[in-house]
Amino acid sequence: MSDILRRGRLATAPDEEIIKFTSSMDADKWIFEADIAVDLAHTVMLKEQGIIKDSDCAGILEGLLKIKEGGIDKLDHTYEDIHISLESKLIDLVGEDVGGRMHSGRSRNDEVATCIRLVLRDELLGLMDDLALLRGSLYSTADKNIDTLMPGFTHLQHAQPTTLAHHLIAHANAFGRDFDRTQNAISRVNLCPLGAAAFASTGFNIDRTRTQTLLGFDDLVENSMDAVSSRDFLIESASVLANIMINLSKMAEEIVIWSTSEFDFIELDDMYASTSSIMPQKKNPDTAELVRGKSGVAIGSLMSLLSICKSLPLSYNRDLQEATPNIWRSIETTRAAVRIMAGMVGTMKVNIDMMAEQSVAGFTTATELADTLVKVTGVPFRTAHQIVGVLARGSGEPTLGEIDAVAHSVIGESLSGRGLTEEMVREALDPTANIKKRNVTGGPAPDEVRRSINSQMAKLGEDEQELESLNKRIDDSISNLLGVVGECISKQ
Ligand code: ARG
Repeated sequence: MSDILRRGRLATAPDEEIIKFTSSMDADKWIFEADIAVDLAHTVMLKEQGIIKDSDCAGILEGLLKIKEGGIDKLDHTYEDIHISLESKLIDLVGEDVGGRMHSGRSRNDEVATCIRLVLRDELLGLMDDLALLRGSLYSTADKNIDTLMPGFTHLQHAQPTTLAHHLIAHANAFGRDFDRTQNAISRVNLCPLGAAAFASTGFNIDRTRTQTLLGFDDLVENSMDAVSSRDFLIESASVLANIMINLSKMAEEIVIWSTSEFDFIELDDMYASTSSIMPQKKNPDTAELVRGKSGVAIGSLMSLLSICKSLPLSYNRDLQEATPNIWRSIETTRAAVRIMAGMVGTMKVNIDMMAEQSVAGFTTATELADTLVKVTGVPFRTAHQIVGVLARGSGEPTLGEIDAVAHSVIGESLSGRGLTEEMVREALDPTANIKKRNVTGGPAPDEVRRSINSQMAKLGEDEQELESLNKRIDDSISNLLGVVGECISKQ
């Protein structure tokens, strides 16, 4: 048997079905480049610690760079994972006396955990970029719709007038929290398990801090058992992703509803629509429906991760291999959904007239009318609520005469007698006046919404700057690693 892993201990080779069942090669395409980076850093450290000779180090590094250049397709896909396939390719290239030294003081257990963390770190940073794009798109669409009236809903029933800007800021702020959550998750993802080896670390004189620094990690996962066996960073990240997809699904649902002829609030750009194979007139919001549907993928991935990790004894168990693809599925889906939603919102046409017309349908100004009765006539709010509630049984908005008649039956006197005028009633029933009055912090009044957009845009700017410096720190450490690798090779 020429398999560098099995040739010692095992006599028979697995059949095709067993290979397919046990191999992680398909999902390992995600970690191919990260595995090379881990190999490079580990090899440099082995040399610096005097564990391998300078010439062997240079040979391994050159071989690794060649493998990187050839890409994953050049590797033998019948191996059980990328780590062993890569090592075997290296040995083919530079011989076992050189390449066979790379895995000193290391196990695939710490290797794979390091690779997953490296890739997930980059993907989460990319996700932060995508979320910034979405937030920007929502705030700039909001900025154009500060005066766009619409009905606000509770229980999906018309409730009170608001503006499209106010509504969109609600979504955008939720994605701001998702941004913060992602950044927070990265602080626990970006920790280095390398050096833990199988679980008990190693008797070789390795330098864990050196590989940590070369790979741009913030710190170590210190305990070597914890380092190889914990996947809580995957569960935490998957939970962040599920939360984002749930937030997106809520927006997607509204986009679907708002595009119906019953609502007719928005029209999506054709780019985000599909048509029917039989009904030539159809313009369907399929892309939004798929964002809604794919939220199930993120939820499912989180559930799978939780179920796979539950009750696993320390330390490494092969079950963990089954956990990893869930995070790739979820991050890929979520990142695409975030970017697509940014484009969908930024390009949708808003039917301002229909939204304004609907903003008062269903007597949405009833709350302001009740408030006006309280403020002008001094009746308790609960009494005003009853009077306006009785008026709401009728059709359309009430006149001063009708208000007086109901007030008589409820409190035995008319409210015009207490100073209520036609003009006051008209103002209470005017949606624009309604909104203008709601100028408390976070309310829909145009000035307040303008202030809120400005302050959120400023926060977005700060977030983007912080993200840039996070990215730079990591890019710098990776180019430093490549620089060190170059020196190790050229000094030979
Ligand atoms: N493909 C494996 C995984 O994803 C790599 C680690 C294998 N370790 C082992 N002891 N079999 O977890």
